[in-house]
Amino acid sequence: MEQGFILWFTGLSGSGKTTISKALEPELKARGCKVEILDGDVVRTHLSKGLGFSKEDRDTNIRRIGFVAHLLSRNGVAAITAAISPYQAIRDEVRAMEPNFVEIYVKATLEVCESRDVKGLYAKARAGEIKGFTGIDDPYEEPPNPEIICDTERESVGESVKKILTKLELLGYI
Ligand code: ADX
Repeated sequence: MEQGFILWFTGLSGSGKTTISKALEPELKARGCKVEILDGDVVRTHLSKGLGFSKEDRDTNIRRIGFVAHLLSRNGVAAITAAISPYQAIRDEVRAMEPNFVEIYVKATLEVCESRDVKGLYAKARAGEIKGFTGIDDPYEEPPNPEIICDTERESVGESVKKILTKLELLGYI
């Protein structure tokens, strides 16, 4: 059985977590990995349906994603997670239960994420229609020590993917 691992993407809404994870998937498959993506927006329609965006609900969401990702990883799957996961303590909690944990900080300033406003949610948050939006009036804790930083203001998607693949080769996971 191939060795499983968790690729834990974290970053603001609109930073590029989903885009990079989707671009990475076929590359990992081409290298013989079984891959599953647990995307925040998708998970919230199933596994975490009904949860909101309070700290408590976000922590519950991340613990669920971490638990499932760990089950996948221990069965030889490359488990990719793409949720904001704003709190370092919970990210560290998942790291502590997973031997093969790779934290990827998808880095872009709030200004840039807001100007992209892919889903139109930043505009709503600024208008006060959404309360507690990450980066606006809710915290995002930058990871102090991620294995990988993808600076999506300076790198193309392809460059970010390449950077991740290189690191995974170095770690011996692929
Ligand atoms: S997390 O904080 O629990 O990790 P998650 O990644 O699952 O968040 O969900 C974030 C997505 O939910 C955002 O990309 C956005 O589409 C949507 N969303 C809706 N309300 C909020 C909010 N208050 N803060 C952040 N994202 C929100």
